[in-house]
Amino acid sequence: MRDISLTLEPGELVALIGPNGAGKSTLLRVLTGYLQPDNGVCLLGDKSLNEWSPQALSRHRAVMRQQSQLGFDWPVEDVIAMGRAPWEQADSQRVVKQVMDLTGCTPLAGRKYNALSGGEQQRVQLARALAQLWVDGAPQGWLFLDEPTSALDLYHQQHLLRLLKQLTSAGRLHVCAVLHDLNLAALWADKLLLLHQGEIVAQGSAQQVLQVDTLKRWYGAEVHIGQHPGSQTPQVFLAP
Ligand SMILES: Nc1ncnc2c1ncn2[C@@H]1O[C@H](COP(=O)(O)OP(=O)(O)O)[C@@H](O)[C@H]1O
Ligand SMILES: [Mg+2]
Repeated sequence: MRDISLTLEPGELVALIGPNGAGKSTLLRVLTGYLQPDNGVCLLGDKSLNEWSPQALSRHRAVMRQQSQLGFDWPVEDVIAMGRAPWEQADSQRVVKQVMDLTGCTPLAGRKYNALSGGEQQRVQLARALAQLWVDGAPQGWLFLDEPTSALDLYHQQHLLRLLKQLTSAGRLHVCAVLHDLNLAALWADKLLLLHQGEIVAQGSAQQVLQVDTLKRWYGAEVHIGQHPGSQTPQVFLAP
């Protein structure tokens, strides 16, 4: 990874895109403090990541990883309640209920996490991450998600991105999500960062980043770019 400079603005939903192995998950690990940068610093708010105490950090930034299998057979509610570990336990149940409603996890109540489908597990992981950032009725802070929609069906892709969009535009939550689906990124992200071999090679609005030659160059894919019929955003079609 080199020469990466990025800033998450308040209220902004940022999508990290790029081909397999581009370094998206690695960048997320650096941004969230699981990997140390060789050079340079990551600031969260006005402090370097190292200067945050572990508890303050876990109250302000949550991460939803690419795959999350659990080594124990917990029900959904208990997995989501893990998100409340950094906080007073008194209102844990209330918060868990709220985030389950918000993320469509209420029908999964009582089910064992390990027995859920991949997409259902992703919804539970989103609920856990939101529970971790929950303060006074809404999430606040920084939320990082690694391919949060990869196993979701159409309805739940839309539901998750609408929810993230709504929560970020309320202004208390910053979101940075790795998204493989460029059309989802185009519809919902305020800014796209295209990573290739550990470098940001393009960034900006969907109009700026999703261009035929850019995608040919960095993905090697032949595409057509059209326009979403219901909005002005570009949409990507693979050439047959
Ligand atoms: N723990 C690791 N040790 C060594 N190489 C790794 C490790 N994790 C990922 N890589 C390599 O770093 C590159 C970027 O990986 P990753 O960030 O996971 O890509 P992606 O953009 O698909 O999320 C890949 O070439 C991958 O094989
Ligand atoms: Mg990855």
